[in-house]
Amino acid sequence: MIAPSILSADFARLADELEAVEGSDWVHVDVMDAHFVPNLTLGLPVVEALLKVTDIPMDCHLMIDDPDRWAVGYAEAGAYNVTVHAEAAADPVKIARDLRAAGAKAGLSIKPGTPLDPWVPALKHYDTLLVMSVEPGFGGQSFMADVLGKVRTARRLVDTGHLNVLVEIDGGINSDTIELAAEAGVDCFVAGSAVYNADDPAKAITALRDRAARAKEGA
Ligand code: DX5
Ligand code: ZN
Repeated sequence: MIAPSILSADFARLADELEAVEGSDWVHVDVMDAHFVPNLTLGLPVVEALLKVTDIPMDCHLMIDDPDRWAVGYAEAGAYNVTVHAEAAADPVKIARDLRAAGAKAGLSIKPGTPLDPWVPALKHYDTLLVMSVEPGFGGQSFMADVLGKVRTARRLVDTGHLNVLVEIDGGINSDTIELAAEAGVDCFVAGSAVYNADDPAKAITALRDRAARAKEGA
């Protein structure tokens, strides 16, 4: 699955930019609060407006403090998957329950320096695990391959029935790095600059999906 990140899109033409990626599986929306990360993007009112103009399932990545308070609003608005950061969550299990009760999938994200193991018990309540492969905050950064160990561990836990999450990766995914991530066991690839900086975003999505599928076959 490919989830283009609109962080690299033209913010003055977001409805058109969603249309440009209509063939994608999810659309990834990065919410930043200038506290949890050193950048500010958009929040619930913009997400609500975008939900009205697209049928692509929306994957909201909340890089914000106090997700215990704010995350459920994105689920109530109709986001398909709502991801919070483990580092910011006071009660991740309650957040997951609230998100699911509001009709969304629940996602938990870990920054590159955050180990996976302490979060495995909480992840039993989640639907997606978002492994960050850059420091969250900005698009266009270089892929950090050392997070692939966590991807492999998560893959093993899923394949052996210990977890039931979709493994998602975010940051620095392009036509080269997607192969490494696919081989390590990623199910869903977020790609911002690799899609929106391409001449033809729809073609870029197809090319990324093909490369990932081929790498998985070979893995
Ligand atoms: C970064 C965001 C990413 C970002 C990825 O904090 O979470 O979703 O858009 O951008 P690229 O694919 O350009 O690294
Ligand atoms: Zn993101």
